[in-house]
Amino acid sequence: MKNNKKINSKVSLISYLLANGISIPHYCYHNDLSIAGNCRVCVVELKNSMKPVVSCATNASSVLQNNSIYHDSVLVKKARENVLEFLLINHPLDCPICDQGGDCDLQDESLFFGSHKRRFYKFKRSVIDKNLGPLVKTVMTRCIHCTRCVRFAVEVSGVEDLGVFGRGNESEIGTYLTKSFSSELSMNVIDLCPVGFITKTFLK
Ligand code: SF4
Ligand code: FES
Repeated sequence: MKNNKKINSKVSLISYLLANGISIPHYCYHNDLSIAGNCRVCVVELKNSMKPVVSCATNASSVLQNNSIYHDSVLVKKARENVLEFLLINHPLDCPICDQGGDCDLQDESLFFGSHKRRFYKFKRSVIDKNLGPLVKTVMTRCIHCTRCVRFAVEVSGVEDLGVFGRGNESEIGTYLTKSFSSELSMNVIDLCPVGFITKTFLK
């Protein structure tokens, strides 16, 4: 696709593409949250760029003027397949019993970009579930560290209870000093989470 019209300088490339009816997979991107750019699944190819670019962290007006963008090229497909392979290394294949099954962004994209065979068999990690409070239940191993929940807590709920702890393979979402996510808005992260990490606690 090519564009020669003037675009608002604050619009991100992914939001421009989505607004034009082009489907771009995304996990960390959310229209109402700040940009994190950490899941890398929203890559697209630009004619004038040697490598794919992350569309949520790219300004639309800066790249679309006199440039061509490819959102379903062979390079883009291969890049997304590689991203999915990394995201699925530690993710449990428990879709049949997951509350998010059938409404999961990771499950949907795995249909198109997932591989039927694995190359990483060693060093599988699992994370002990945390008690985030009375309203939400966690299944920590399902988290893909998109940080939507962390940004929601800070930017919308106004509480800095959640954070990412550890680096690389040791990263995990948690609360400081083993406290709970103490916001009346905490249940919103159930819908916000692109996978089934946070689900509803069924109160008796
Ligand atoms: S719990 Fe869900 S929303 Fe939060 S970082 Fe993990 S995958 Fe993202
Ligand atoms: S949606 Fe762009 S990097 Fe996650």
